[in-house]
Amino acid sequence: MSVWGRIFAAGYDRVMAGVEKSVLGAHREDLLGRASGRVLEIGGGTGANLPYYGAGVTELVITEPEEPMARRLESKLAASTRQALVTRAPAEKLPFADESFDFAVSTLVLCTVDDPARALAEIRRLLKPDGQLLFLEHVRSDVPGLARWQDRLHGVQVRVGHGCHCNRDTLASLDKAGFSLLDLEHSQMLKAPPILRPLIVGAARPDLSATAGSG
Ligand SMILES: C[S@@+](CC[C@H](N)C(=O)[O-])C[C@H]1O[C@@H](n2cnc3c(N)ncnc32)[C@H](O)[C@@H]1O
Repeated sequence: MSVWGRIFAAGYDRVMAGVEKSVLGAHREDLLGRASGRVLEIGGGTGANLPYYGAGVTELVITEPEEPMARRLESKLAASTRQALVTRAPAEKLPFADESFDFAVSTLVLCTVDDPARALAEIRRLLKPDGQLLFLEHVRSDVPGLARWQDRLHGVQVRVGHGCHCNRDTLASLDKAGFSLLDLEHSQMLKAPPILRPLIVGAARPDLSATAGSG
């Protein structure tokens, strides 16, 4: 684990506090309140979603491959009433059975995974046929001028953001991976730098008529 990885994990909650309060907290509350049954969260980080899962979640499994993040997640869990299994696995290779989860959750993670297509293929494999992926992700802007700045500053952002890409077209990745949207809201991560502001929030389900990756 790199020194920057440890610093990033240690500072994450403090750096995100303003954005959580102004925008993300409300989105997390709306989105995660919809989860029920057996739920898989990928890239759980320091556990920002933990307070928002409702009583309908009967089993929560959270994956987090970065040790400094996973340790903070475990500390938060120990201090909360929520029970969850923490697994140190990357989203691209998840050690769970096919069609075994009712919901998958990805919040600010598809920007960072090494291979979004593989991660989404894994989520699709693990979701039950009527399961849903709940997502809250910052993405490539639809505004050409801002998208150009996202491309220009991408290299710096990947280093500063510990692997976070500011210019990913996650909606296109969802479509390519064989998901169809159930609902979608465009929002803005106000108080964040402009290249990180465009947000998408919503739910998608495996499109059973689509062959994943064929698009
Ligand atoms: C910006 S943080 C978001 C954390 C949390 N989901 C949240 O909403 O605050 C991105 C997280 O993705 C994790 N991550 C990085 N690569 C990953 C991968 N290949 N699979 C799953 N998670 C990954 C990081 O360790 C980090 O915890």
